Amino acid sequence: MKKMKTLLTTTFRGFSGKKFNPRRYLEMTDVELELDKNGVHYRLAERSDIVALLAIERDVYNGDIPWTFSHFEHEIVKNEEAFFIVAEIAGSVVGFIGTRINHHGQDAHITNLAVFKAFQGQQIASNLIGQLVQLMQALGKNEMTLEVRRDNTKAQGLYRRQGFSTDKLLPAYYEDGSDAIWMVKKLKNGN
Ligand SMILES: CC(C)(COP(=O)(O)OP(=O)(O)OC[C@H]1O[C@@H](n2cnc3c(N)ncnc32)[C@H](O)[C@@H]1OP(=O)(O)O)[C@@H](O)C(=O)NCCC(=O)NCCS
Repeated sequence: MKKMKTLLTTTFRGFSGKKFNPRRYLEMTDVELELDKNGVHYRLAERSDIVALLAIERDVYNGDIPWTFSHFEHEIVKNEEAFFIVAEIAGSVVGFIGTRINHHGQDAHITNLAVFKAFQGQQIASNLIGQLVQLMQALGKNEMTLEVRRDNTKAQGLYRRQGFSTDKLLPAYYEDGSDAIWMVKKLKNGN
């Protein structure tokens, strides 16, 4: 995830939409947007979730918030090619994943992912990624991409288990000069 400047079970029973707009799914009868798994509820994020997302960021980045309220707002409310899924336990949001559709609707880029420290190691991030993969597969996207800090081996391991592989190094990608690794998961041809 880069500091910015400037949804769902994915149980599909047939999808015939044209332009990608996850928020439009809420009005569709052929897509289920919600999933309950191991006591965790997964659903599309709304504007009212942003305060919780900021709290999760502060927790996992030790007080820092790489994304501000308006960054989240842009990707959850304003940008029709982007959305977030949240994981909820007993009504409280404990984790999230964001994605944005790029390259004329062909690829899905993971923009942000985090789980409260107290809830890590319970497969919540794995399920968030898994749902996104399932959704993008059903939508016929070609591939999913992401960038991750070179020293974030934990997240890289998680992405590898979900079928992502290292594509290239992005030297000095982050504002603090650290490198990123670009990872890709092909979705077509039997990935
Ligand atoms: C990276 C992050 C999102 C992972 O969240 P999580 O919910 O703990 O992830 P999961 O439980 O799905 O998987 C991670 C752990 O479960 C283990 N695990 C997951 N799937 C597994 C599998 N199929 N088999 C065995 N172990 C597995 C992993 O080994 C890992 O264990 P570890 O923490 O002891 O290394 C979380 O650590 C986080 O918020 N980190 C800070 C933000 C960040 O780095 N985000 C990624 C930016 S690109």
